[in-house]
Amino acid sequence: MPTFELSSASPTEAAADALIVPFFQGREPGPGVDVVQRALGADLMSTLADHGLQGKVGESFAIPTFGKIEAKTVVLVGLGKRKEAGTQAIRKAAMKVTRSVTKFHTVASTVHQVGDSPQASAHAFAEGVALGAYRFDRYKERPIDSASQEKPKLAKILALTNGRRSASQTGLTRGQVYAEAANWARDLVNTPAIDATPSYLADEARTMARRSGLTCKIWTKAELQRGGFGGILGVGAGSVNEPRLIELTYEGGGNRAPIGITGKGVTFDSGGLSIKDAAGMEWMKADMGGAAATLATMRAVAELQPRVDLIAAIPSAENLPGGSAIRPGDVLRHRGGKTSEVLNTDAEGRLILADALAYLAEKKPRVIIDSATLTGAAMVALGNDVYAVIGSDQQLIDALLAAGREEGEQGWELPLWTDYRRHIESSVADVKNMGIRWGGAITAALFLKEFVGDVPWAHLDVAGTAFAEQSGDLWPRGATGSPARTLIRYIEGESGRGRAPRTSAPKAKASAPRKASSRKSSAPASGSKRTSARRG
Ligand code: BES
Ligand code: ZN
Ligand code: ZN
Repeated sequence: MPTFELSSASPTEAAADALIVPFFQGREPGPGVDVVQRALGADLMSTLADHGLQGKVGESFAIPTFGKIEAKTVVLVGLGKRKEAGTQAIRKAAMKVTRSVTKFHTVASTVHQVGDSPQASAHAFAEGVALGAYRFDRYKERPIDSASQEKPKLAKILALTNGRRSASQTGLTRGQVYAEAANWARDLVNTPAIDATPSYLADEARTMARRSGLTCKIWTKAELQRGGFGGILGVGAGSVNEPRLIELTYEGGGNRAPIGITGKGVTFDSGGLSIKDAAGMEWMKADMGGAAATLATMRAVAELQPRVDLIAAIPSAENLPGGSAIRPGDVLRHRGGKTSEVLNTDAEGRLILADALAYLAEKKPRVIIDSATLTGAAMVALGNDVYAVIGSDQQLIDALLAAGREEGEQGWELPLWTDYRRHIESSVADVKNMGIRWGGAITAALFLKEFVGDVPWAHLDVAGTAFAEQSGDLWPRGATGSPARTLIRYIEGESGRGRAPRTSAPKAKASAPRKASSRKSSAPASGSKRTSARRG
């Protein structure tokens, strides 16, 4: 992950290997282009015309500078129409162009100088660069960049400022926090299921919590049995890798009830006895994308310190068809006592989420949000760019949709069509885990709704967006971190009062756990203390 630095050097004098400057549709020069053109004695805009560049978002062209400026290469990047060039264009362009400059050590840029809000532009720029620089090469003997066939070297980004330093600095830091959290989620999702077991996820959560000052309790199999978590235990029954429930708490001195979040953590979904075919299993290591995004959200929140309280309860299990696996027709008793009839062991996400939702509802949160790679139906409906948002509370749904838009990580609402409840009526249990084929994303949500009681709730079905099956413009093949940035943005929007993020990242391995309680003295007493949360 590159580091970000503000610099007041001129574009021609910045000590960098490459310089990225923007241009707009119609080949209009953006900030920094003029001074570079003068130094090079060249008309860069007509060079772009000669090579057929229009200025579409993220379109780029690299030109050698022959020692006439400090940087050896200048990279022109398109930002679309000048009037429309804002945070979305900056983020996208930064994501795309960064993938082509990872062979350089230091890269300077003026891209974040575009737009009306220096903070929002710097945020989008840092986020785009950090997301674009992401690679998953932990399992490669020799990590090389597929485009350049060189080892990626990108270490430092110089954001060249033209004033408004403090707003830009805040934006850079915050954008980096968002993207680093999302990139951590990507690492977790990309890690193969042979390594990323429920206990691995739990260990990762515990380490993160220790570094960021969150409270963490990991529920073991025996504790889940004592606690009545029949859904998590049932789904995990066919694997030797025992299930877990990861509970994390952030106390930010909010004066309202906490926000509850959860995410589906199926570390591998074979379908169980209702087994998938080979093609259907190819990506099923990514079936914990919702859990990873929820963990990433907790990590970012611990760094950004919004004034709000938060509790996460993340269920994790491996869905395999071992000899002790659950069977079609089995009835599971969930946390809180409701039962479900398992007609298809491949509809397992809702079974583990049911327990987590019921557990969160006990804490009387003000809202509950779950994220899950839950149904192929959501992917059929909305494709790979847009996730489904379904819930019981319009205000919450709208806030999540707005947060997703701001982050360039969009959702779209599907209806919680209660008439379809009849499709999941069971003759032997309170509810069954499969409806008819049609409207599968909705019946899955209706199943979840059974377990949230009267708490306002929204569900994000990220089956289509959590990973990219093929490498595209914005994302390389693999995990995207969706919907982590949406959740972080939503939670920040709920903050009672904004505050500057911590400037030092919580990486210092030896540092003592930072107590969120440093703020507690000044915070109003919270009406909903989580007294039943056990610490482990
Ligand atoms: N994990 C899958 C959903 C999924 C499919 C996510 C493809 C990402 C890509 C989920 O557990 C599942 O198998 N759902 C079934 C439910 C059905 C059996 C009711 C589905 O969507 O087909
Ligand atoms: Zn499944
Ligand atoms: Zn699944």
